[in-house]
Amino acid sequence: MLRQKHGGLYLKTLVGIDDIAVYVPRLYLELANEEHPEKPTEFSQARQSEPAKYLHGIGIAKMSIPDTYQDSSVLAANAIFELIERNYVSPSNVARIDIATETGVDESKPVAAYVHGMLEQKFGKGAFKKTSGVEYKFACVSTADALESSLDWAWAGRSNGKVSVVCAVDIAKYPLNSPGEPTQGAGAVAFLVKENPRLLAFDSVIGTYMEDEDDFWRPLFSTTAVVHGKHSEKCYLKAMEGAVDNWAEQATTSGLIKTRPGESLIDHLGPMSFHVPYPKMAEKGFAYLLRHFWRGLPRWNEIVKQIGTEPKAAGAGIKKIDEIEKAESDYMKRFMETSKFQSEYKDKIADGLTHARESGNAYSASEKMCLSMLLETKAKKGADLAGKRGGSGNYGSGSKAKASSWVLQEEWNTVAKTFGHAEKLKRRRQITLADYEALHEGRSLPDGRKFVAEPENEFVLIDVTPQGYRHYKFAD
Ligand code: HMG
Repeated sequence: MLRQKHGGLYLKTLVGIDDIAVYVPRLYLELANEEHPEKPTEFSQARQSEPAKYLHGIGIAKMSIPDTYQDSSVLAANAIFELIERNYVSPSNVARIDIATETGVDESKPVAAYVHGMLEQKFGKGAFKKTSGVEYKFACVSTADALESSLDWAWAGRSNGKVSVVCAVDIAKYPLNSPGEPTQGAGAVAFLVKENPRLLAFDSVIGTYMEDEDDFWRPLFSTTAVVHGKHSEKCYLKAMEGAVDNWAEQATTSGLIKTRPGESLIDHLGPMSFHVPYPKMAEKGFAYLLRHFWRGLPRWNEIVKQIGTEPKAAGAGIKKIDEIEKAESDYMKRFMETSKFQSEYKDKIADGLTHARESGNAYSASEKMCLSMLLETKAKKGADLAGKRGGSGNYGSGSKAKASSWVLQEEWNTVAKTFGHAEKLKRRRQITLADYEALHEGRSLPDGRKFVAEPENEFVLIDVTPQGYRHYKFAD
């Protein structure tokens, strides 16, 4: 076990993530063919767009799509079941199973309660009767809040050797033919939070930034989200910068991180995971943070020599908002092409973005999907990261961002190699546009089929009563 320094003291109780299990629906819609990016897809033709826009403009090639028997409850239950089974966790040792979601299935009954019922079908009636559970909601960021609550519970000494499970799950849905449509997706990610974790232990420094924003919301009457796309991108950048600044302030004043002259706080972080509505957004978010933390350092002078001064600083000659925005966007592109940015990006971020490229957005599950993919890929590459500090940035529209840091533990690579994340993405099957549109609109599938793919050893939704009550079972 690694001892973790914090504020000149060693934390008495290391708390963090011991293992991660992901569940991705086994269907996907192809937006762009990665081997032949120029080749039109059924989707790009129907939307009169270019596959290159999806692949290179936003960075998504495929979107995971749930089948007829899947809702947020079954996606969550499948991820949690795998996590509990793989780790031989006894139900009586699970103090809480909390769910972060913005696509819950009921206005009153939480996904956590339906999941409880499903798990008891496998582990026996009453097996989890002493396990608590609740649903957290704040767009995509609620995962960070759910996790923080479990960390606080364990740091406060209330876990008494028990574990907590946090699961983030969502089905990201925008209207057909809308600009948001290519940024959909679905999935669940469950993680085991405990003392002396094998994977990573959190620093007790968490940054927050929040304000009331109208970038994205989903009214009670709608199954699809309303979004001001371009505005939402600005809100993401602003909130993420605010949260990281708040984290940095605490990390500095507590003595968690001490920078030497010429260094940036970000230099002290290795691998990083972000909320990934689409990979280009997270890449831009990282570039925005580097610009923020590198300004004023000697290395920034080299950047200025290569690509010029930032547009805001240039000032003169730029008067209209759209001119400023165009200048800023052009500058960002130039910065993202510099070798300094590229080497940081490839080293710290890029591996985690594969999940969103292959699966799309999964709202609250997105950042931990990114973390799981990042650590699994680094472990398979044989990266030597034990004892290394990393960071996570969560964003939720509406809006709030959270920034946290953690330290990889000695067994991190053994654990990360067994996530099976990349394998699950490979095992999916491609669906037609007609099937996708029917699933999206809740219409009957072509040819009267009941589902697209037969369920395989997983929880399924079997019916919803006229009063809206849901019944689930495990399909062997
Ligand atoms: P759009 O209008 O389709 O995009 O909306 P565009 O026309 O501006 O194109 C996008 C990019 O593709 C541009 O690059 C184009 O140049 C490029 P940029 O200027 O941005 O760098 N492009 C091409 N590149 C290569 N070859 C081509 C080509 N054509 C164009 N042929 C938008 C895009 C993302 C806004 C839209 O899909 C959307 O509204 N998505 C949903 C909102 C969203 O994801 N926002 C992200 C931040 S908010 C967030 O993360 C929270 C969220 O997850 C919800 C929650 O918290 O619960 C959404």
